[in-house]
Amino acid sequence: MCSPTDNKDSTSALKGAVGVLSLSTIGLLVATIVLATNNSSEEAAPSVKAAESATTLDFLSSKEASSFFASDEMNKCAGAKLAVDNQLCADLEVPGPQAGGNVTKGYVGELDVGDLTPNTKQYFQSSMCPVNVHWHLGSEHYSYGEFDENGDGPHGNIPRPDWANRDLAGAGESVPDGFRCHHFDETDAKFTTKYEWKHCEGMEVGETYEVHWPHSAAGACGTVNQYQTPFYDGVFCNLPMETFVTLGAQDIASAVGVHGQVFTVVNDESYFYPDMIRGMIVDPDMNMGQDVAMYTGSTTGDSRSNEMCSQYAPITWQVDRKCHMISASSFDKLCYDMKMQRDDMSDDLHAHGSRELVMDSLVANNQAN
Ligand SMILES: *[C@@H]1O[C@H](CO)[C@@H](O)[C@H](O)[C@H]1NC(C)=O
Repeated sequence: MCSPTDNKDSTSALKGAVGVLSLSTIGLLVATIVLATNNSSEEAAPSVKAAESATTLDFLSSKEASSFFASDEMNKCAGAKLAVDNQLCADLEVPGPQAGGNVTKGYVGELDVGDLTPNTKQYFQSSMCPVNVHWHLGSEHYSYGEFDENGDGPHGNIPRPDWANRDLAGAGESVPDGFRCHHFDETDAKFTTKYEWKHCEGMEVGETYEVHWPHSAAGACGTVNQYQTPFYDGVFCNLPMETFVTLGAQDIASAVGVHGQVFTVVNDESYFYPDMIRGMIVDPDMNMGQDVAMYTGSTTGDSRSNEMCSQYAPITWQVDRKCHMISASSFDKLCYDMKMQRDDMSDDLHAHGSRELVMDSLVANNQAN
């Protein structure tokens, strides 16, 4: 059974264990003495806690003092945005496909984009990195049964758009918020209990937000300048105009992509995820980032509509069709991390307006799964 060497091994292991045991006995003794000494001052434990949270808060003032942030010129991407104005969609001979559209499985847009395909690989496999994160109030995209006209939140929802609703009379109202998810329940405290936001601005428990992570192969990937606000500075950081004009549509769609994921904010730490700055949350166990629609579109935001087209197209979109719950603290941690970047991301600490749902005639007919 046991060879002599095994025996020797277990003997020395035992000796080691005895050593550890006697060490920890000494440790216990010391602890007892320390405890006995501290017993007189009862606030010993709380003061340790206070010191810890003071250290956390101090990171913001450390940033003020840090030489990494000494001069604005250190941000190599500042002003890298290549400016192309929105244009009347009708004035464009061939409008670029727009985002965000209907991402329901099986949906086919009506804009024929020929051979143009979205990048269906993981973005990092095409040398892209996230260059920004920002979010919109409500969802810009539409996923039937997940974020659509039947969702709800503390301030209600928006109706299905008129043009998608020809058989029903609609007010045709245009509002800067988007669709809500179906999680909200006003009788459940996790959707209604206020959260004390420390870093994000104007956010609300129970609301739905669509988070976007623009990615670019021309970003300052792997450097301290990677994350940028406005995100265009990040997307175009290493892409001068001379190079940009030589690129074909497919080159752009293959090298620039956005992750979209929709969340309802809850006040419940069992939904805490600490690393939202990294990109779409992908976890098969949590069914996150698993059912993803991919298509080519444009940049979004409420300066675009079905009349006013974004000319930043075509770029790839990968959008999680499911709506997920996430804790308010996850967003607050994200905002904290954004404050820690070299570039000033303060313009993205609040929810941006949502554009109206893109009409079928401006959605590319290339949705992939
Ligand atoms: C979205 O697409 C689905 C699947 O094609 C369709 O059933 C639904 O009516 C569409 N919704 C809108 C608002 O266009």
